[in-house]
Amino acid sequence: MIIAIDGPAGSGKSTIAREVAKRLGMRYLDTGAMYRAVTLLALDAGLGPGRLADSAELAAKMALRLEARPDGLTRVFLGGREVSDDIRGPMVSENVSAVSAQPGVRAVLTRRQREEARKGNVVLEGRDVGTVVVPDAEVKVFLTASVEERARRRQAQLQEQGITQSLEELVSNIESRDALDSGREVAPLRRAAEAIEIDTTGMSIAEVVEAVCALAQKAQDEPLGKWPLSRMQRGPLDTLVYRMAYFTLGPLWRFCYRIKVKGVENFPLRGPVVVACNHKAMTDPFFLGSNMPRMIHYMAKSELWKFRILAWAMERFGTFSVNRGEVDRDAVRKGLEILEAGEVLGVFPEGHVNTGEGLAELRGGVSLFSLREGVVTIPAVMRGTDLAFKHGIPHFPKIDILVGPPLEMPGPEVTRSERGRIVTESVRGALETLLATPVDR
Ligand code: DC
Repeated sequence: MIIAIDGPAGSGKSTIAREVAKRLGMRYLDTGAMYRAVTLLALDAGLGPGRLADSAELAAKMALRLEARPDGLTRVFLGGREVSDDIRGPMVSENVSAVSAQPGVRAVLTRRQREEARKGNVVLEGRDVGTVVVPDAEVKVFLTASVEERARRRQAQLQEQGITQSLEELVSNIESRDALDSGREVAPLRRAAEAIEIDTTGMSIAEVVEAVCALAQKAQDEPLGKWPLSRMQRGPLDTLVYRMAYFTLGPLWRFCYRIKVKGVENFPLRGPVVVACNHKAMTDPFFLGSNMPRMIHYMAKSELWKFRILAWAMERFGTFSVNRGEVDRDAVRKGLEILEAGEVLGVFPEGHVNTGEGLAELRGGVSLFSLREGVVTIPAVMRGTDLAFKHGIPHFPKIDILVGPPLEMPGPEVTRSERGRIVTESVRGALETLLATPVDR
């Protein structure tokens, strides 16, 4: 299980994350400590405000090691030197927001944090872990507290260290840090759409820990994939129709078409996902949708809404229309809304049913969605669906469905215009690889 805890400075994240990890026997990753370590390096290297971009290079090269103390606190080492105290000093605290606003620094640290998360069983704590680092975390919590409460907590903390600071000063410090963390362009502090917000003002640590552990328990008790529903469904009728189709047509087709699915474990069970799929037949969305663990909202060409029954079914299944051959702003907005809600968007980048061999030319639109913060893009291909219906008569070829691992997205170091091209190419490469991958039968 992965638990992501985000929130502003002083919301109690570190204490809560540590306690939750201890209680549930999980590892704990303090992502803020990583940003602080880079800041310390940048200060040591004498990087002034004009040269902060160079800190990305320092981040990429740094030999950072985090070690858990028995009491749960994190010991931080740079090379052989322990810097656990240095990174909490006032110089680092004053400069860390500026360093963490550097896209290059974020790219390096995000990559490291994901590597850590991939090992599983971890509580990550920071500003963007639920939105960017691990958007597929099973539990996402956003902690808040009033500015005054956060200032009071910080004052008490400082007092323990023998430092006196006025409440007014602390309030203004916190407000300016909030503004920097929320206002920056890359990975700003933002609540993930599906994160549970806990306002900790007036709550004890034990109460907050209890609340987070209860969320973890609930997530554990609710294995996903059994009821592949979407938050974006409009009501009970849609839910009923979708479930009936999923649980009747799905197994029936698996039997009739001897469908083999390979790589379904690549499908993230939580968080926003774009599925980029090849397109051989009108029935593709149904074959793919009924074999995947989550409900997929497809974009379908508006012409299909002419067919009354099909249109009705598509509406129930959360499909929405796109006008091809133009930039359809409503369709883009709808797609982004689906991702924002942490749901799954299905796109056919070929843009039409491809009756030829191999892949047709891909349209670039997929990158509009894939490049959104925190979105995971997976490739999927289907083989044999073009033979399932010929002139309206069902045939029963064998059908393969293959899902590939998430695509690596270009980092912020690449220019905006280049990124779209890179995404389209990487989708093409992944689809071609899957098309050429055999399936054991
Ligand atoms: O949680 P903290 O105060 O130790 O974090 C220090 C700084 O690092 C904070 O100003 C924001 C930044 N940070 C970030 O930008 N993204 C994270 N995931 C964690 C911290």
